[in-house]
Amino acid sequence: MRLDIHTKLLLVFSSFCFDGVFGGGSGGRMVDLGTEGFEHYGRGLSHYKGSSSDFFNVKRFGARADGLTDDSKAFRAAWKKACRAIGEVDLVIPKGTYLVGPVKFVGPCKNVSKITVHMKGYLKATTNLSKYGDGAGWVEFRWVEGLTLTGGGTFDGLGAKAWPYNRCPADFNCKLLPTNVKFVAMNRTVVRSITSVNSKFFHIALVGCKNFKGSEIKISAPADSPNTDGIHIQRSSSVHLSQSLIGTGDDCISIGQGNSQVTVTGISCGPGHGISVGSLGRYRDEGDVSGLVVRDCTMTGTTNGIRIKTWPNSPGRSAATNMTFENINMNNVSNPIIIDQAYCPFKSCSPTGPSQVKLSDIYFKKIKGTSSSAVAVVLECSKGIPCQDIYLEDVHLELASGEKQVTSTCKNVRAKYIGTQIPPPCA
Ligand SMILES: *[C@@H]1O[C@H](CO)[C@@H](O)[C@H](O)[C@H]1NC(C)=O
Ligand SMILES: *[C@@H]1O[C@H](CO)[C@@H](O)[C@H](O)[C@H]1NC(C)=O
Ligand SMILES: *[C@@H]1O[C@H](CO)[C@@H](O)[C@H](O)[C@H]1NC(C)=O
Ligand SMILES: *[C@@H]1O[C@H](CO)[C@@H](O)[C@H](O)[C@H]1NC(C)=O
Ligand SMILES: *[C@@H]1O[C@H](CO)[C@@H](O)[C@H](O)[C@H]1NC(C)=O
Repeated sequence: MRLDIHTKLLLVFSSFCFDGVFGGGSGGRMVDLGTEGFEHYGRGLSHYKGSSSDFFNVKRFGARADGLTDDSKAFRAAWKKACRAIGEVDLVIPKGTYLVGPVKFVGPCKNVSKITVHMKGYLKATTNLSKYGDGAGWVEFRWVEGLTLTGGGTFDGLGAKAWPYNRCPADFNCKLLPTNVKFVAMNRTVVRSITSVNSKFFHIALVGCKNFKGSEIKISAPADSPNTDGIHIQRSSSVHLSQSLIGTGDDCISIGQGNSQVTVTGISCGPGHGISVGSLGRYRDEGDVSGLVVRDCTMTGTTNGIRIKTWPNSPGRSAATNMTFENINMNNVSNPIIIDQAYCPFKSCSPTGPSQVKLSDIYFKKIKGTSSSAVAVVLECSKGIPCQDIYLEDVHLELASGEKQVTSTCKNVRAKYIGTQIPPPCA
């Protein structure tokens, strides 16, 4: 079905090679994705460093890009070929609107050293919910080493039609709607310059990933859309998220169980529920969380700023430790700093036992701005396992309305205070 790629390459190179947009030259790669009629991608100079390379355009595999025909088959076929290629591989989704059902891009791609998905197109998700598996992703990448997803394209989950069917805010055992883009068991992943809008559930989720870099990601969904977390991370390590804009109906970023070495910088969050660690302690055998740094972020009109939430009555023990939140600006945030170890979003959580998640070595530094509620700092720790080594340094929060001073509340914790403290420490 595919045309002779090498003939096409020559054509692309003879006419469009001059100013490639993805750093042509440095890696012997030149690109022109923007030119009408030449929507394919030229790699060129395959003799460079002796490596071979190939590119695969979904349109060559039959994608219609008319926004009406289901293009899933073409996406799957293009991936299958790309994943079986050798060396550096490029999968191209040119500009255009594509209707796609659930697609899984699964590795390992044994002889591929690097696979770049150049997504310039606008992807619309199928709204027929019976096509998706419980908790699956709409677009899922699994078990791939060295994936880059970039190109400025958009994943539109068309969530408005699905949100009324989400029972999760009320039902503990709910069916999970699809996440827009899910990464499972991936190593060395780069996601840059990608947009996700109106996901049916989480926008982006990482599960069991190592070495993940995400930047210039834009996420948006209405403030009242249910469980539309921006980026959720679970059982992953060495994750760096930076320079991204997230406005949604739930946590902008949620750091779940089993994560280590996670760095989050330069995130603008709002609307949404802020940046959260948790919720933790809901299931048996959860992994610990450690080595989290959240720095240089801005929260605007969010319900929380920095939140650590753990369930009461945990079925097992775990820990969250060595976490630093530094230089966070709050603009009219309801709970700028909140530790909630009795987290229960439902009406009833059988709140008989305390949380069994041990929180320790947590630093809040340079947290400034305005609170929309009078209690700006809430530290409610577990009565079973009190928090240890919680530090607040240079906290300056005032009421957005400019009225009276804000206050703090504490339970089962003796925090350590350094520098400015507005609100004043718990008595
Ligand atoms: C990978 O390349 C080797 C030769 O370099 C070949 O023997 C093998 O069949 C290739 N594997 C796949 C999955 O294409
Ligand atoms: C939804 O998808 C299911 C499963 O593929 C199919 O049987 C059904 O006809 C579809 N419904 C609509 C309205 O297209
Ligand atoms: C990722 O790396 C781990 C070792 O750190 C390895 O066990 C695993 O197979 C790798 N996964 C893939 C998809 O290559
Ligand atoms: C705490 O986390 C930071 C950031 O991930 C890491 O560099 C440091 O080594 C960790 N400290 C300890 C004692 O584990
Ligand atoms: C602050 O947020 C509250 C809702 O939490 C809103 O009613 C109020 O108008 C906001 N104030 C400003 C100054 O934006």
